[in-house]
Amino acid sequence: MKVLLVNGSPHEKGCTYTALTEVAETLKEEGIDSEIYWIGIKPLAGCTACKSCAKTGKCAFNDKVNEFLDIAIEADGFIFGSPVHYAAATGAITSFMDCAFYTNGLGGRNAFYLKPAAAIISARRAGTTATLDQLNKYFTISQMPIISSRYWNMVHGAQPEDVKKDFEGLQTMRVLARNMAWFLKCKEAGMKAGVQLPVKEDMIFTNFIRD
Ligand SMILES: Cc1cc2nc3c(=O)[nH]c(=O)nc-3n(C[C@H](O)[C@H](O)[C@H](O)COP(=O)(O)O)c2cc1C
Repeated sequence: MKVLLVNGSPHEKGCTYTALTEVAETLKEEGIDSEIYWIGIKPLAGCTACKSCAKTGKCAFNDKVNEFLDIAIEADGFIFGSPVHYAAATGAITSFMDCAFYTNGLGGRNAFYLKPAAAIISARRAGTTATLDQLNKYFTISQMPIISSRYWNMVHGAQPEDVKKDFEGLQTMRVLARNMAWFLKCKEAGMKAGVQLPVKEDMIFTNFIRD
């Protein structure tokens, strides 16, 4: 089993990466593979609502989003990491996740359905819980069980060395990784024992318009 760890920071090896590394090492101890996927620093377009993904299954901007979705289909779980930029997720990870989740939904890719997910946040000081709430919303609209830890998933620091001294933050990452591993093992055991996936309903789509 494999968990995809998305680094939404402009720093390839910064604070968010340091937190994700703690998750990766703990997952390894639990027998779960992982891969850190960096979204990079090239501009990522926000969703322009062109809806071409509904026809092609791909984002019209052929950037990291399409590459990620091709890998995501094989993953069993996800952790998305973002630094706090102005008390919110970075513009880049917001564009990335808008396009990835919209393309996945409209394009019928099924990369996220019932796969466990969590967000982890890195900040010098403030804006962490608002950012955590922001990223969790992608999971709850996508039928992804959210894995929690013992505290809200955050580390503090401006440099990786700061994060390495945030012992509580790193412990929060390890607990999160163990809870993710436990859930994945339970899901696998349940599926092997014949637990069926939930019955699906056709989508009812209203825009609060009433005749
Ligand atoms: C544009 C920008 C805005 C930021 N806004 C905040 C903020 O609102 N609150 C905060 O605590 N840190 C803020 N920071 C600092 C980063 O969140 C913090 O240094 C983070 O740990 C960096 O993670 P990284 O090394 O993975 O990029 C900001 C940094 C940048 C570049």
